[in-house]
Amino acid sequence: MQIIKSLRKMQLVSNQLRNKGYSIGFVPTMGALHEGHLSLMRKARQENDKVIVSIFVNPTQFGPKEDFKKYPRDFKTDARLCLKEKVDIIFYPSIKAMYPEGYKTYVEVEDLSDVLCGKFRRGHFRGVTTVVTKLFNLVWPNIAYFGQKDAQQAVIIKKMVEDLNIPVKIKVMPTIREKDGLAMSSRNKYLNSQERKKATILYKALRLAKNLINQGEDNPLKIKQKMYHLLKQEKLARVQYIEIVDLKDLRPLKKIIKKNTLIALAVFIGKTRLIDNLVI
Ligand code: PAJ
Repeated sequence: MQIIKSLRKMQLVSNQLRNKGYSIGFVPTMGALHEGHLSLMRKARQENDKVIVSIFVNPTQFGPKEDFKKYPRDFKTDARLCLKEKVDIIFYPSIKAMYPEGYKTYVEVEDLSDVLCGKFRRGHFRGVTTVVTKLFNLVWPNIAYFGQKDAQQAVIIKKMVEDLNIPVKIKVMPTIREKDGLAMSSRNKYLNSQERKKATILYKALRLAKNLINQGEDNPLKIKQKMYHLLKQEKLARVQYIEIVDLKDLRPLKKIIKKNTLIALAVFIGKTRLIDNLVI
């Protein structure tokens, strides 16, 4: 397994691989790898000749009051996990190389970036789309793998690739969960043991919504009310948003359509902000 830090070298190596006819599967990450990330690597391994994983905690997608500084970083453990998954190359650039002094260019997907998480994390998706564009230009993948865990991110990346004619296929893989239903996330590391136990409330609220829909409830407002009610019973939980939207355009649904319905929520457990979603 090769570890590449230089941008020029990364471009050179991926160009050589593509010119030799190898297909490249790419998994962009911010490190602190867990089974969710590993599931994407496994899929990439199955479907491509070469697998490249990037590890870069991208400063432009964090707000000034967010957790950029304390975001978990453990390159050694991450590298060991990548090796185990038979990754060919880890791309591990520095902030200085990615955003040198005088950096000026950003990629923005309108509207889709302003709803759900984007409403509360202004500029977040602009940072994501900018770094992913840069990574695509550096890694030149055939297929890039993203997790359904970050449903809005996946929708926005797909739109960006379509609108900008970027020649990369985007594949979105299912959310990997802990045994008790909590969606795996690098940020789960912030939870203390009591908070960790209570964090299952997000998935419980999503299951409740799913059950209501299965029983024939088609009014999103009523479903959201019941989800709020459940979440309110947990003292450590504070809801930031619950939305029921069309997965295609992220617009709120007036009536459940039972196809491509995205139920998404963001909830603080103590000081830690967690997100989760279900697609029905
Ligand atoms: P990060 O949070 O490290 O996630 C990297 C990829 O792993 C994303 O596509 C994310 O959706 C996926 N992922 C995270 N948890 C998952 C889970 N429980 N099940 C399945 N997939 C999961 O998302 C980012 O990094 C960044 O925004 C990035 C795209 C790398 C740009 O900086």
